Amino acid sequence: MAILRALWPVLLVVFCLFNSNSVNANTTVSYDGRALLINGQRKVLISGSIHYPRSTPGMWPDLIAKSKAGGLDVIETYVFWNMHEPERRQYNFKGRNDLVRFLKTIQAAGLYAHLRIGPYACAEWNYGGFPVWLHSIQGIQMRTDNEPFKNEMTIFTTKIVEMMKAEKLFAWQGGPIILGQIENEYGNQEKHYGEKGKAYINWVAKMAEAQNINLPWVMCQQEDAPDPIINACNGFYCDSFEPNSMKKPKMWTENWSGWFLTFGGRVPHRPTEDVAFAVARFYQRGGTFQNYYMYHGGTNFGRTAGGPFISTSYDYDAPIDEYGYIRQPKWGHLKELHHAIKQSEAALVNGEMHSISFGHDLQATVYSVNSSGICAAFLSNTHPRKDATVQFNGKSYYLPAWSVSILPDCKHAVFNTAKISTQTSSMAMEKVGLESLLPAETETSSSDTKPSINWSWHKEPIGIRSGENFSSNGLLEQLYTAKDKSDFLWYTNSVHLDEDEPFLKNKSQVYLHVKTRGHALHVFINGQFAGTQWGSYNNTSFTMHIPITLKAGTNEIDLLSVTVGWQNYGPFFDTWEAGINGPVMLLGLKNGTKDLTFQKWNYQIGLNGEHQRLYSKTGANAVQWNSGTYPPNTTALIWYRFIGSCRLSSMHQKETMQWLWT
Ligand code: GAL
Repeated sequence: MAILRALWPVLLVVFCLFNSNSVNANTTVSYDGRALLINGQRKVLISGSIHYPRSTPGMWPDLIAKSKAGGLDVIETYVFWNMHEPERRQYNFKGRNDLVRFLKTIQAAGLYAHLRIGPYACAEWNYGGFPVWLHSIQGIQMRTDNEPFKNEMTIFTTKIVEMMKAEKLFAWQGGPIILGQIENEYGNQEKHYGEKGKAYINWVAKMAEAQNINLPWVMCQQEDAPDPIINACNGFYCDSFEPNSMKKPKMWTENWSGWFLTFGGRVPHRPTEDVAFAVARFYQRGGTFQNYYMYHGGTNFGRTAGGPFISTSYDYDAPIDEYGYIRQPKWGHLKELHHAIKQSEAALVNGEMHSISFGHDLQATVYSVNSSGICAAFLSNTHPRKDATVQFNGKSYYLPAWSVSILPDCKHAVFNTAKISTQTSSMAMEKVGLESLLPAETETSSSDTKPSINWSWHKEPIGIRSGENFSSNGLLEQLYTAKDKSDFLWYTNSVHLDEDEPFLKNKSQVYLHVKTRGHALHVFINGQFAGTQWGSYNNTSFTMHIPITLKAGTNEIDLLSVTVGWQNYGPFFDTWEAGINGPVMLLGLKNGTKDLTFQKWNYQIGLNGEHQRLYSKTGANAVQWNSGTYPPNTTALIWYRFIGSCRLSSMHQKETMQWLWT
């Protein structure tokens, strides 16, 4: 025992070396029709997506360690252009944007990285990852053949590549990056851009090659990816995918381990057995590189969620959940699958493949190297409901419906995708009083042993209060007016009504009618909340028609339009609009309808609280807060704050949190 203890550090180092993908300077990465080759050796690789800005740098080592323990070789991430270049030529690579630190964390764990530079990402990320300032460049059209866009795309791509080179992060420099990706699923969009689409993708390929990353580039979902770029598959199943050349390996860049959550949508779930089945089928049918999108989804912090109407949680039902906990049985079952696939690696990359049919839906695929006796087999039952038993090499194998068995020696089935033997745990989220989150020693207002939460609140003024307001005739489009500085835009107007308005006497109802492209709208009349409405992921536009109370004299009409993430997907996604487009009308007045659409409107981008940065400690300390045990729930626009504590491992941090509640 004592010897073991003494040798432990040595054993640990040996284990780490053994269990790591070694990358030395001069490491080469190439490919042939079968697989990626690292230092001339064909590899079966298992990859998983973790997007660095969707977790905190403090979480990265643990997430990556859990990925490695789960059997991954590669971590894949997009590069998020709008995080790195929020203002033109002003860059940010700090904190959650610290791409280099993220890659070095991957390197330290002995894993490879696949860097999807894009720079278009999609990813349910605001504006697909494009910085909004691109839109203001004269003559620009996104993702198609025009100089202004190509120029910006080249500048950013080069910036990232140069940064990787400077930090020695490419495999040939001893770094973890073994693959690049340029563009993202343009194949789905190309036809919408006509001839220019084709010209663009050819240009993209040349631009990428000219970066000299000395590694293979991938384009996902791009059937016409020009050589030597590898076209890869994205989807729930990719076993029937074939690359566009016999000289390229069969790669799967996005195996959707679950799905993203939308406002009001169901929490997505993809059964573990089905994910495992899809993966096993892919390797059974000649695939050699597969990536889980996502392995850890994480959180859309701040205003990064795309959409519109994508939730802040990007949990994705992934093998590691939003908070960094292992999700069982998904993580464990896939780990066992990876082990079985890795045991078959030599046969998969070098063996002759032949298939045996046992009838409809039942098949064996055998990979064997006759000279060396290496042999691996996959037995599949692709019937969705019927179980079966097959005879293979003189033995009988039971195959549940929709399952694959893996026999790394062609004799013993070490794994079946439908038979879960890993520990199953399910996490129950319980609603608890916030006080139970507070450690005993934190400050509480009462001397009572049971601590109580002290809420404070600050009212957001209704209508325009900041000095930065402006006016315009007619209704402005919201996204490009607010320029991504805020999700809020006030549209305000006032209407003078005479004493002789009949509705004042006969008590008939006056209505406000507003048409908007979305995404949500709060209406205030004379400072009082009058109604709220919102669109949905599939249809952001709506018409609001609500009864309102007006008076003789001047009436203030304050419309607060709210956006919830910019479009991130689809042809011309960058041209989607938001905000009130009209008509805006008052109905039920003495002259019938009063149309305000083309009148002069006053505008304010953002809320007062945002201007005052109430969400920051200094901003919050600069204003007066009301406090008490029960915050009011009657006023429409209020910032709520409580001071709580949270434990981060041994650290004990005091955090201030503010919310705006509408
Ligand atoms: C793909 C896209 C990803 C992500 C995914 C859905 O089409 O490439 O970025 O948006 O869909 O989560």
